[in-house]
Amino acid sequence: MIPGSFVSAAPIRSANEKIRLALIGCRGMGFGILEQALKQPNVECAALCDIDESVLARRMIDTEKIQGIAPLDYTDFRKVMENKDIDAVIIGTPDHWHCYIMIAACEAGKDVYVEKPMANSIGECELMVKAARKYNRVVQVGQQQRSGPHWQNAMEYMRSGKLGQLRKVQVWANFNYGVGQPIVPDEPVPAGVDFNMWLGPAPHRSFNRSRFHGSWRMFWDYGGGLITDWGVHLMDMALWVKNVDYTPVSVAASGANFSFKNNAHETFDTMSVSYQMKDYIINWDHVAGAQNGPWNKSYGLAYIGNDATLLINRDGWEVIPEKENGKNKIPEVAKQSGGEHHQQHVQNWIECIRSRKDPICPVETGRLTALYTHMGNIAVRTQSQLKWNDVAKNFGNNAAANGLIMPKYRAPWKIPVFES
Ligand SMILES: NC(=O)c1ccc[n+]([C@@H]2O[C@H](COP(=O)([O-])OP(=O)(O)OC[C@H]3O[C@@H](n4cnc5c(N)ncnc54)[C@H](O)[C@@H]3O)[C@@H](O)[C@H]2O)c1
Repeated sequence: MIPGSFVSAAPIRSANEKIRLALIGCRGMGFGILEQALKQPNVECAALCDIDESVLARRMIDTEKIQGIAPLDYTDFRKVMENKDIDAVIIGTPDHWHCYIMIAACEAGKDVYVEKPMANSIGECELMVKAARKYNRVVQVGQQQRSGPHWQNAMEYMRSGKLGQLRKVQVWANFNYGVGQPIVPDEPVPAGVDFNMWLGPAPHRSFNRSRFHGSWRMFWDYGGGLITDWGVHLMDMALWVKNVDYTPVSVAASGANFSFKNNAHETFDTMSVSYQMKDYIINWDHVAGAQNGPWNKSYGLAYIGNDATLLINRDGWEVIPEKENGKNKIPEVAKQSGGEHHQQHVQNWIECIRSRKDPICPVETGRLTALYTHMGNIAVRTQSQLKWNDVAKNFGNNAAANGLIMPKYRAPWKIPVFES
């Protein structure tokens, strides 16, 4: 689907009609998204839901302060789905919950803002695309750079051919947080935390703070480390420049945990992935536990064309021309400063809930970007060069890689099954 196309014949709502939201997963980014939504006219938070009562209590106070009315509080998202007054949900849980909750929301007739990466596996992303389309829901994936004017302008600039032939995109993200927290012993589940509900479909294990709030990202059962966490934002931009709508021709990768042995993490602290595309190459690199990177930037993208390189991250972009006979190959040295773009992205979602149009980052985009980043991890975990068969939805006869397409859900949770 193309952003802006009609999602359903459901009634279009005027700007005067109230949209009632629920937030599921309130501690971090989810609440940031809710704050942006509440800046939009006629948007109300009707409910908050979290499995940690202390997080929930704090966010209830914060929300009432913003809107003057207390929302309902829930600890079980299934009850949120039963509430017919709720039009749409924001999913701000860890990644391993995104698929199940998103599909439950679609089935309950609610629109969705699901944080990135769209899911913690390729198989779940495929299901989410089907669910959004089957139930005609407006689903925005939290890859907010799509809503950023400086990202949009850079894409336009490059698509106009100003860099010359674009042959390679280098993408990198070096962040300290990627090595996780210091190792600590398991402990009893803190009072007020429904840890079984936090684990949900993930395997049972005892409670440990180093793999709970915030730090879950570095464990395969809940996240995919830097490449899926930060990587989706940047890989999205590496694909968007050429409006890529296909899965990679092939993916080769290397990675390991070489360092930070006193920190708790499973995902790779050091990793390089090379994506063979139809007419260019994308190279991903991360060094967790470091904050320096190429071009003196801890993260970013360098789009390398025959005539110039465009360098970009959230701070802005600039063009560095190639030289020929001592002269710049392109006369114009363009640049633009940047910023954070959650507000524009949330605004686009709310407007699309009213207009019933597809938002700027629909499920197909969320799915494709997540697939690229998960493929990087799977290539390293299986020590194999990967090709994705987008018809069979598998890695051909690579049994080890096929085994990582879809997680096994822990009972009583079941992988959602429905006819598309
Ligand atoms: N778009 C962005 O720029 C951006 C930035 C940061 C995080 N994120 C994404 O946002 C999501 C949340 O990340 P975070 O850093 O806020 O994580 P977090 O661990 O700080 O917060 C997650 C919250 O979800 C709650 N939760 C877990 N299971 C739940 C369930 N079954 N029902 C209700 N609540 C549940 C937890 O108790 C916690 O309060 C992730 O998917 C992450 O990738 C996006």
